[in-house]
Amino acid sequence: MKKQIAALILAAIPMFGFAADGAYPLDKVSIDLTDKAAMQDGAKTFANYCMGCHGAKFQRYERVATDLGISEQLMMENLVLTDAKFGDHMKSSMPDADAKKWFGAAPPDLTLVSRVRGADWLYTYMRTFYEDPSRPYGVNNKVFPLVGMPNVLVGLQGRQVIGCKQVQIEEDGKKIFDPLTGVPVTHEACDQLVIEPNTGSLSEAEFDEKIKNLVTFLEYSANPVKLKSQRIGTYVLLFLAFFFVFAYFLKREYWKDVH
Ligand code: HEC
Repeated sequence: MKKQIAALILAAIPMFGFAADGAYPLDKVSIDLTDKAAMQDGAKTFANYCMGCHGAKFQRYERVATDLGISEQLMMENLVLTDAKFGDHMKSSMPDADAKKWFGAAPPDLTLVSRVRGADWLYTYMRTFYEDPSRPYGVNNKVFPLVGMPNVLVGLQGRQVIGCKQVQIEEDGKKIFDPLTGVPVTHEACDQLVIEPNTGSLSEAEFDEKIKNLVTFLEYSANPVKLKSQRIGTYVLLFLAFFFVFAYFLKREYWKDVH
């Protein structure tokens, strides 16, 4: 028995090792599925920058328009960039066989990707492409090493490279500030992601916001009924609270004569 336990513990060690140094730490993002403006912006980015390769084929344009409060005309003018109709599924126009030839892997359908990967993973993935001349498209990715996808948002983000920059020192996950001046305490760290200044049309904060909106759209797309089910949940709770009061008085009424 003891031997078996020892073997189990030994077998688990490489697993912990992998989790500790194999994975790139994910940046956290908090998603608000009631923020329609964010989802509209995300849907626009998705249609303009992703649908050349990826589809969201379990989703219809019409349904997205209704859920996100986009008119049919705006949808057809800004988001439907193929000859698809308003009621059609959001399919990509790229044949899988060609995609495999070009990128080494077919771009997967993204309708449900946020359920598989999670919002933090997507948020980090889209922001961690960096230049790597050894790769076919000249870019690599921190959370998806050797990825087959080119960095399609480089025009917005700018060219990101591995270099040195000042980073704030953290202790126990908390950022450190100088107690006297309140200025962040930093040190120079290399092996960091650095954006070359003025190579993208958005600032770093604006780009983060764009990606947050895109991830909000993908979260919505993986679970379009979530919006509705949250609302129904509130009514159900209200109904139960209301019903409880009646049930209580009814019980009192029935038991009145028994005592
Ligand atoms: C030029 C084609 C192309 C465009 C445009 C493109 N992608 Fe990709 N994408 C790919 C390919 C190819 C893969 C598969 C990579 C692999 O498996 O190595 C991929 C993979 C991904 C994955 C990983 C999926 C998974 O779970 O494995 C995500 C997420 C993703 N793309 C999101 C996006 C988003 C969001 C956009 C738009 C901003 C976008 N892509 C635009 C080609 C593209």
